Amino acid sequence: MHNVVISGTGLYTPANSISNDELVAAFNAYVQQFNADNAAAIASGEVEALNESSSAFIEKASGIKSRFVIDRDGILDPQRMTPRIPERSNDEWGILCEMAVVAAKEALERAGRTAADIDGVIVACSNLQRAYPAVAIEVQAALGINGFGYDMNVACSSATFGLQAAANSVQLGQARAVLLVNPEICTGHLNFRDRDSHFIFGDAATAVIVERADQATSKHQFDIVSTKLATQFSNNIRNNFGFLNRCAEEGIGAVDKLFVQEGRKVFKEVCPMVAEQIATHLQENNLNVNDVKRFWLHQANLNMNLLIIRKLLGRDAEPHEAPVILDTYANTSSAGSVIALHKHQDDLPSGALGVLSSFGAGYSIGSVILRKR
Ligand SMILES: CC(C)(COP(=O)(O)OP(=O)(O)OC[C@H]1O[C@@H](n2cnc3c(N)ncnc32)[C@H](O)[C@@H]1OP(=O)(O)O)[C@@H](O)C(=O)NCCC(=O)NCCS
Repeated sequence: MHNVVISGTGLYTPANSISNDELVAAFNAYVQQFNADNAAAIASGEVEALNESSSAFIEKASGIKSRFVIDRDGILDPQRMTPRIPERSNDEWGILCEMAVVAAKEALERAGRTAADIDGVIVACSNLQRAYPAVAIEVQAALGINGFGYDMNVACSSATFGLQAAANSVQLGQARAVLLVNPEICTGHLNFRDRDSHFIFGDAATAVIVERADQATSKHQFDIVSTKLATQFSNNIRNNFGFLNRCAEEGIGAVDKLFVQEGRKVFKEVCPMVAEQIATHLQENNLNVNDVKRFWLHQANLNMNLLIIRKLLGRDAEPHEAPVILDTYANTSSAGSVIALHKHQDDLPSGALGVLSSFGAGYSIGSVILRKR
């Protein structure tokens, strides 16, 4: 068994961003139009009037101020409220592949590696753009990597589950190094007409190089001390989009073919599970939670993260202990905790302990204990 490190991370951030005010203006224009178009039915009680959204609510309930997106115009058009991402020919790299490659190149550079040093590619994300071939194999081809590639989906926990898979391969000698990428176009599966959730997601891609500790040369290394995964079935975050949809015409276009959630229940049920998992994981490795210098938590909701840290430490976190990126990125599903890691790691001294943790649909929870080399 080889010891394994993360030797480089990378990030792709879309060029466009949407503020809460811009998003709310588009949503409220849609609401006003809907209520005007349905005035008679609303007056007779047949149709319920829609309520407007508010930036103040969004920031207070979630901590989100803005989000990066692949396409602004389609989302902000009250007649459309869906990003416009044109189809590409099979001879062009797909958009997920393109995002993944940008993040991967930065991760390779920080790791001091080239495609020739990588033996496997894992694309781990919430939504894959097609059934097959695997996007990972496309990324492999785009970067000129030999070996193997496969896709996996564990929703918001895809990155931590992917990290365990990558670490296992390297530990067992099946690969010298593995590239893990998390391309997330969350706006593609967000219902921008749903007041409860239209503000939640943004787009981004992250990449991580996992390699043998005895071969790593980069200045940005973290020992992967341990990984721990847990799942527990829940319908509280769900998306019923899939290849069987066409076999049931009655459901085509229904709102359950996009992201739906019971946000309150998720909040209440998931926070204790995450705190318990991280505490247990540290104990199992004879590590004290107070010795952890940084928690790179999943970036869905600021209040969730504050509560999880309070449960773990018995006090509020200092801002540097649990960095926040969801204020400008919103929830980028599996990419979120890796963005936090990518942007908030270079100040840590050698030997510092950190925990990367994700949580989301499934429910699925992952924690990865890291030690700066
Ligand atoms: C989604 C979430 C931000 C909503 O926050 P919340 O505090 O639970 O808000 P609620 O849905 O209970 O709504 C509270 C009130 O605000 C209202 N409200 C909801 N959306 C609103 C909006 N966009 N603008 C203004 N008001 C809104 C509700 O109607 C409700 O009003 P009421 O009290 O009069 O009934 C929060 O539940 C959350 O983030 N949960 C965890 C989600 C998560 O992590 N999911 C993982 C996804 S991978």
